[in-house]
Amino acid sequence: MARVVVVGSINVDLVVVSERLPAAGETVAGGTFASYGGGKSANQAVAAARLGADVEFVGAVGRDAMGDEAEAALREEGIDVAGLARVDAPTGVALIVVDAQGENQIAVASGANAALDATAIATRLDELLTPATNSPPTAADTPAAAPPLAAAAASGTHSPPAPGPGAPAAPTGVVLLGHEVGEDVVIAAARAAEAAGWPVVLNPAPARELPGAPLAVLTPNASEAAQLTGEDEPEAAARALVAATGAAVLITLGARGALLLEPGGEPARLPATEVDVVDTTGAGDTVNGALAAELAAGRSLREAADFALKAAALSTTKPGARGGMPTRADVDAA
Ligand code: RIB
Ligand code: NA
Repeated sequence: MARVVVVGSINVDLVVVSERLPAAGETVAGGTFASYGGGKSANQAVAAARLGADVEFVGAVGRDAMGDEAEAALREEGIDVAGLARVDAPTGVALIVVDAQGENQIAVASGANAALDATAIATRLDELLTPATNSPPTAADTPAAAPPLAAAAASGTHSPPAPGPGAPAAPTGVVLLGHEVGEDVVIAAARAAEAAGWPVVLNPAPARELPGAPLAVLTPNASEAAQLTGEDEPEAAARALVAATGAAVLITLGARGALLLEPGGEPARLPATEVDVVDTTGAGDTVNGALAAELAAGRSLREAADFALKAAALSTTKPGARGGMPTRADVDAA
């Protein structure tokens, strides 16, 4: 089964659709309001689940009504929320304005997301990523998951042992991390993934210092890539990030598609699919969730990235971060 373990943020999005985005100090009247499930990591979990991955979400909400709402939305998608903690802080909230072109402006109050405990996360991940010990005898020698991208992680600092003869096929899986939670949480999760031999896809949004643990794939958008490297050109930024991390780098470029650079390879431009855009909120999250789902299902990085861009284009055709996130049949039909 293609497993995706997502560690990161979960919010409730309070969205006003408005003719245009307000400038500082300005009031723009006449909008319409709706509330949606949000948070980059929770959105990514939903994107992966809709594409058929077996998804576990690890994060935190408050002991409040928004926390109930946020949790219920993940359950409805069939996501395992046993790792969703309730903490003494308000559930994360994003105030979002979307304009007539589908562009957005987002302010986030992290709340519970900032209260995640790194030690608890590490313990939780050890449980999730390590095979059960009560398996048949042959499983005793079975290593932790040996997912397709493990060898790509961290330029050879880690490679998972091969399954022994007669061992059941190792489950494949990907750990998907994001920067809307504390740096200590990201580091703890990345280390737990490394110890269990699972590849990590890190969405460094918002941009800040990278965790320094082995990464298989890094997925900034253009502005995050520029902030991380000081290079404005995506190609130069991608080269700098590959050199610094040893990870493959997928820079998303909105309507211009994406740029993919694998270690030792040449940069590839991936085209965007043209659609009628309603709301770009969550398009990047769809890329990440779809990418993780496809990698966990054994697809190559290039195949996974092409598929993920198609899924992301579809996601922008409906309002809300998760509205429009496609099923596999939706992507195949498009
Ligand atoms: O990427 C979109 C998401 O960013 C929104 O759902 C919002 O909650 C913020 O975290
Ligand atoms: Na959408």
